[in-house]
Amino acid sequence: MITFAGVTKRYADGTVAVDRLDLEIPAGKITVLVGPSGCGKTTTLRMINRMVEASEGTVTVDGRDVRDVDPPTLRRGIGYVIQQAGLFPHRTVLDNIATVPFLLGRDKKKARAEARALMDRVGLDPAFAGRYPAQLSGGQQQRVGVARALAADPPILLMDEPFSAVDPIVRASLQDEFLRLQSELEKTIVFVTHDIDEAVKLGHRIAVFQVGGRLAQFTAPDDLLAAPASDFVRDFLGGERGIRRLRFTQELDAERDAEQAAER
Ligand SMILES: Nc1ncnc2c1ncn2[C@@H]1O[C@H](COP(=O)(O)OP(=O)(O)OP(=O)(O)O)[C@@H](O)[C@H]1O
Ligand SMILES: [Mg+2]
Repeated sequence: MITFAGVTKRYADGTVAVDRLDLEIPAGKITVLVGPSGCGKTTTLRMINRMVEASEGTVTVDGRDVRDVDPPTLRRGIGYVIQQAGLFPHRTVLDNIATVPFLLGRDKKKARAEARALMDRVGLDPAFAGRYPAQLSGGQQQRVGVARALAADPPILLMDEPFSAVDPIVRASLQDEFLRLQSELEKTIVFVTHDIDEAVKLGHRIAVFQVGGRLAQFTAPDDLLAAPASDFVRDFLGGERGIRRLRFTQELDAERDAEQAAER
């Protein structure tokens, strides 16, 4: 579990990016941080792995104050995936992924074997192993980014708008694969997006932020859609809320039907 207790981040110029945040992020689930641009999502995410230090309050990971863990040790247990995948342009796909097991002390051969297994896991054709990132589509690059983040097998994964640079169809398939992967891996995932549909599709819990870095609501997606806590949340969910809610309910029904069919 990851907790924020009274956490404020004030940058050097006085900008309050996150304001007195209290949040409990459950283990083994996907928690989505959603909200308009500049509301403090990335700052919140980065306080977990100490890329950003909190000005006030306490962030804990599994009961330990992150300030008591040195950053390299902390980050070994926390994968990080960003929008443009952040790949090394001059290394092949395989070596982009193999870098991580190699840094963890595997020899080159073992590191590459692990990288191949990870490519398979995230649905990347083995034929891409020798290509460079620029020779892949945006969606494929994102898969490489996810594979690399998984390479250290960290219990926690931070994902900052990982799918937002790809077109809607590729995005939907990345989301589906990500949900499938998570159902096998059961990582603690903190996922940032500004897309409420993505939040509802992926989140076990959704934290809605508003500008000024204030948490507007933190709840399960069905509850968020059914009972927005404020006018801000209602507006953010938008006019299609009824439709979204219907779609969400239908998806739940379909899932339940599939589960029941599988049990029979
Ligand atoms: N290094 C910095 N110095 C000063 N202000 C910063 C710094 N980084 C971020 N901010 C400000 O803090 C606020 C929150 O930024 P943050 O990047 O966390 O927002 P965000 O919700 O991730 O936005 P987006 O959806 O656009 O990525 C913004 O007002 C931003 O301008
Ligand atoms: Mg951001």
